[in-house]
Amino acid sequence: MKKRNDMRIGILTGGGDAPGLNGVIRAVVRTATIRYGWKVIGIFDGFEGLMGKTNTKELTPWNTRGILFRGGTILGTTNRGNPFAVKVMEKGRQAEKDLSDSVIKNMKKLKLDAIIVIGGDGSLGIAQKFFRKGIGVIGVPKTIDNDLSATHVTFGFTTAVETATDALDKLHTTAESHHRVIVVEVMGRYAGWIALEAGIAGSADVILIPEIPYDMKQVCAKILERKKANCNSSIVVVAEGAKPLGGEMAVLEKDSSGYALRFAGIGDRVAEDVKKMTGMDVRVTVLGHVQRGGSPCASDRILATQYGVKAVELIAEKRFGHMVSYRPPEITSVPLQQAIRKMKLVDPEGNLVKAAESVGVSFGR
Ligand code: F6P
Repeated sequence: MKKRNDMRIGILTGGGDAPGLNGVIRAVVRTATIRYGWKVIGIFDGFEGLMGKTNTKELTPWNTRGILFRGGTILGTTNRGNPFAVKVMEKGRQAEKDLSDSVIKNMKKLKLDAIIVIGGDGSLGIAQKFFRKGIGVIGVPKTIDNDLSATHVTFGFTTAVETATDALDKLHTTAESHHRVIVVEVMGRYAGWIALEAGIAGSADVILIPEIPYDMKQVCAKILERKKANCNSSIVVVAEGAKPLGGEMAVLEKDSSGYALRFAGIGDRVAEDVKKMTGMDVRVTVLGHVQRGGSPCASDRILATQYGVKAVELIAEKRFGHMVSYRPPEITSVPLQQAIRKMKLVDPEGNLVKAAESVGVSFGR
């Protein structure tokens, strides 16, 4: 093994972006170069930067200055670049090829002793496979959905909740002026965290989440009860993965294992039903990728910085195959194997849901 100050580490960001990614990159670069004297190689566009002709750049504290407050990722990202299942055309048909060995060859060419993968479930799953093939891998969890059970919170989530709350504040005034119901669709995949927290903070009247299948009659009863009391407007927050009792989620695209990659349409579905059942004027706002953009809030910048520092420390301790995790008050780590595909969902009987119901929010049950 090399002398500790000879180390070269790679870093990449994979999957959907989240506010705070640049904060992790900055903290990794500063800790690795200043504290340990290592070199850091930035890999562009997730694992794609290691496939075929490599696409990398040495990162220094100087060329990563002024990025802590910037959304997105200076390294670029993709949710398509899985080296273990690269889509290729073979004899006129689409097939999947395993190019992981060529990625490992490229890592060796770049003289990388370890690699930090900042990603969600998909990228961390790929990281785990490389670890099994002998690569020194450290994972850093990221997702605005906050749906990973191995960590208390992921950076990007709090910023997304702030963005959605700000939108709800604005939608209240227009809904009131026009006596309308406004249905607001937010992200979150299989988890209702963004809908729940933004819904509470933005004083929504109805919150629909995947963990509590909704009954449209209950949703409309709430809206009509408000109307009867002269509140002629209502705000309905719908998580993209919400579903009616006995019905299906509005999934647009799945991966080969059946895991939903994209959702679309539940906001429109709910709006149509509300219109039909209440006769009220209804509008839909799909917040979409605005929730992933913008400057990370202060707590996400702090968490991202702590994650980046910890990732480098794990390399120094050679604790490969681990993922950084936040278990308040500690920043610690868990084996990647235990972390991937273990979702953290909202507890339908938990404190947050109970508090929301106490202040009059309907979950359509
Ligand atoms: O996982 C983060 C997330 O923003 C989800 O909330 C959403 O369903 C999905 O990514 C959208 O991904 P894409 O980048 O493919 O639009």
